[in-house]
Amino acid sequence: MKLYIVGAGPGASDLITVRGLRLLQEADVVLYADSLVSEELIKESKPTAEVLKTAGMHLEEMVDIMVSRLKQGKKVVRVHTGDPAVYGAIMEQISLLKSEGVEIEIVPGVSSVFAAAAELGAELTIPDLTQTVILTRAEGRTPVPDREKLQDLARHHCTIAFFLSATLTKKVINELIEAGWSKATPVAVVYKATWPDQKIVRSTLEHLDEDMKKNGIRKQAMILAGWALDEHIHEKDYRSKLYDKEFFHGFRPGVKS
Ligand SMILES: C[S@@+](CC[C@H](N)C(=O)[O-])C[C@H]1O[C@@H](n2cnc3c(N)ncnc32)[C@H](O)[C@@H]1O
Repeated sequence: MKLYIVGAGPGASDLITVRGLRLLQEADVVLYADSLVSEELIKESKPTAEVLKTAGMHLEEMVDIMVSRLKQGKKVVRVHTGDPAVYGAIMEQISLLKSEGVEIEIVPGVSSVFAAAAELGAELTIPDLTQTVILTRAEGRTPVPDREKLQDLARHHCTIAFFLSATLTKKVINELIEAGWSKATPVAVVYKATWPDQKIVRSTLEHLDEDMKKNGIRKQAMILAGWALDEHIHEKDYRSKLYDKEFFHGFRPGVKS
């Protein structure tokens, strides 16, 4: 018995992988989180497929359904938003499924962090500026381990991507400023990246909270912070070694005179 966990991508129905789409089209049973995965994409499933929305289900209920359908010899696909590996709550499902003898195959998806960067036309790692991206969330009702306090992470002054933090911007601002970030640091917010009602808000650390409020953004937002998000970064001369004419590597050995 094998269950497929498929990353749906951030929203636009053509941002699922070819492998993920094939599995969705072949599935006898499809489970998906209705508020986060596009209906357009789910329409790709077979007309005869049993399609179940999971938003109102609890974990055991969902797993019971998956196991019962697998035992009937059906092909079952669980669709997750973005990439299942980040904030996908897949491990609690995998844990119960494995205890029932179910094998798991995960198909990756385009995470909202990368969809948001693409919509912004941004590179998150700019040579000489930052070579690191931290994926995190501000602490709200869900606790974050003490050793991962935002203030400590922010001391790296790299790019930080905030999931699940749209209502916690005051906390984000305070912690980053406490870590020595300038109030002028660029912050870009992408609400519902790649959905028809996507909204992009470019702000600074100082104005983030008011700009989010002004635009009525309280959920489904990717917040990207750091100087790599400077809208004018392309006018500055940051260059990687990769395409430097003086830099030779395995795929472009060149001949040095
Ligand atoms: C439960 S997490 C799931 C993340 C998902 N696994 C991913 O890779 O994008 C939900 C959070 O992801 C972010 N998110 C998911 N889809 C988004 C989108 N289309 N645009 C902006 N942010 C999104 C938001 O921060 C949201 O609060």
